[in-house]
Amino acid sequence: MSIIFQSKSHQTHSHQMKVIETIGELRQRRRQLAAPVGFVPTMGYLHEGHLALIRRARAENLSLVVSIFVNPAQFGPQEDFSSYPRDPQRDLAMLAAEQTDIVFTPSVAEMYPPGFNSWVEVGQVTERLEEASRPGHFRGVATVVAKLFDIVQPTRAYFGQKDAQQTIVVKKMVADLAMDLEIVTVPTVREPDGLAVSSRNAYLNPEERPAAAVLYRSLCLARQLWAQGEKDAAHICQQMTALIQKEPRATIDYVSIADPETLEELEVVKPPALASLAVKIGKARLIDNVVLE
Ligand code: PAJ
Repeated sequence: MSIIFQSKSHQTHSHQMKVIETIGELRQRRRQLAAPVGFVPTMGYLHEGHLALIRRARAENLSLVVSIFVNPAQFGPQEDFSSYPRDPQRDLAMLAAEQTDIVFTPSVAEMYPPGFNSWVEVGQVTERLEEASRPGHFRGVATVVAKLFDIVQPTRAYFGQKDAQQTIVVKKMVADLAMDLEIVTVPTVREPDGLAVSSRNAYLNPEERPAAAVLYRSLCLARQLWAQGEKDAAHICQQMTALIQKEPRATIDYVSIADPETLEELEVVKPPALASLAVKIGKARLIDNVVLE
């Protein structure tokens, strides 16, 4: 079954958006799309960060496909899969306004039918940073992204710098498996106080929300120390840690300065270097990064 959304855009053109739930129908409709096809995979609850990817994909391609799928395989047993925020009606209205051609909204059973047992494991770059706190997370991401790429057959797929390690893992998978598409990285969209826009910011209560700005402040400190000539990565990480520890609501998971290709920790900062961190504020585990270059 497919649902058709009509949106009046630019007053004169009216645009049709199809919402498709099955792999079979997606493949059929895909054949009728004009190439190049831009693709933005998401877990929904769309915000300005997603919109930056969607608008870039819309501008650079003749057709636009967006997927909304909260992927159980990338959530750990203690993580927020069931409570992950969802608002499909609002998402579809936003996507119609962006002239999306197809929204793919498969069910869990459609993507992981009974007996599903094939996984994509990217080595090395998955073993660092996020992996310690989220074992198996990138296996779930790589598997679902590979499956979505095979279904959608995009010319280009768009990922956010916000999730730097995820983007690196996807690029490595595409290179290693010679997948026939281009991965485009889009800069991080931030709130006025610097907090990276994220669906998980919805978990922050009004007292916690201002405290969350400490992530970006510590990344700015790293950038400032680096600009002043500091090359000792451990020293920069210590200064970042000290700044975050002044915020009583914040608990550090990791603070890292790593090679942006291998994600190996650096002793001496030589550009480009990826300064990244994960910090818990209340129920929310937040991540952010900047590139020192
Ligand atoms: P989700 O968290 O919904 O994010 C979808 C895309 O939006 C990702 O590429 C993410 O990096 C990007 N994004 C999120 N916040 C952003 C921001 N503030 N600025 C720029 N881009 C931002 O990431 C996932 O979903 C999933 O892991 C997925 C790739 C869909 C696989 O399930």
